[in-house]
Amino acid sequence: MITETIPQIVYEKLKSSRTIGVFTGAGMSAESNIPTFRGNEGLWKKFKPEELANFDAFMRNPELVWEWYSARKKIIHGSKPNPGHFALAELEQLIDEVIIITQNIDNLHRRAGSTTVYELHGNIERNYCIKCGEHYSDDVILSGSLPPICTKCNGLVRPDVVWFGEYLPQDEFSASENAARMSDVFFSLGTSGIVYPAASIPHIAKYAGAFIVEINPETTPLSEIADITILGKSGIILPEIINELKSIKNEGT
Ligand code: OAD
Repeated sequence: MITETIPQIVYEKLKSSRTIGVFTGAGMSAESNIPTFRGNEGLWKKFKPEELANFDAFMRNPELVWEWYSARKKIIHGSKPNPGHFALAELEQLIDEVIIITQNIDNLHRRAGSTTVYELHGNIERNYCIKCGEHYSDDVILSGSLPPICTKCNGLVRPDVVWFGEYLPQDEFSASENAARMSDVFFSLGTSGIVYPAASIPHIAKYAGAFIVEINPETTPLSEIADITILGKSGIILPEIINELKSIKNEGT
């Protein structure tokens, strides 16, 4: 079902849920003024991912890649979680287990207070040396010259994000698969659902019997497997769902 309102069945399913899985993409952070990747204003409309978001490009031109990532780091450091992120954090007070599985690298779920967050594509606020693995914080990186060089071994330092053609962090991915399998209700929020293997997670939830709720201003390939697709912004729809669930739980109905 594709709808612009929140059907009653969503509350019925949430009321009886023990575990809720939440798969999020760049649309979740759009209302925090962080650009998405696809769509008219998307990053991949202005920049070529093959020139910026893969290891060969980094080794060919680390200065260019670091220029791009330091600009994105500054946007993200200046951003704040939006009502959608806070609503998901609040959901933890209403449901036994809320597991966030995010493709986003902006750390906004944790900054909003969510406590179980699996980052499938890494975290832009982390950096490491490609030779010895030494970790570096953004404070150190952004205060020095680019590209940053490891003080321990003189290797190149890179952002701790997954680039095209790279493996996802195995622990996070298997934990996400398990979470999808255990979910009673599984949300897909703000994602075009076309980048694999991350986009396989909602399918795993569906196959395991979860009730799938998608929130996105437009339909996506995941709308095919969603029980409900709510056409709207996550920063508006999620607080509505959580506030209504709160009053239902308080009435004990
Ligand atoms: P996309 O940019 O592909 O998709 C963003 C989705 O969010 C679109 O379907 C929009 O319609 C939707 N959207 C926009 N504003 C929204 C809002 N306010 N509320 C809800 N939805 C909204 O971003 P992702 O699906 O996250 O990979 O892209 C997946 C991966 O592709 C990213 O993690 C990145 C990118 O290349 C890597 O960096 C490895």
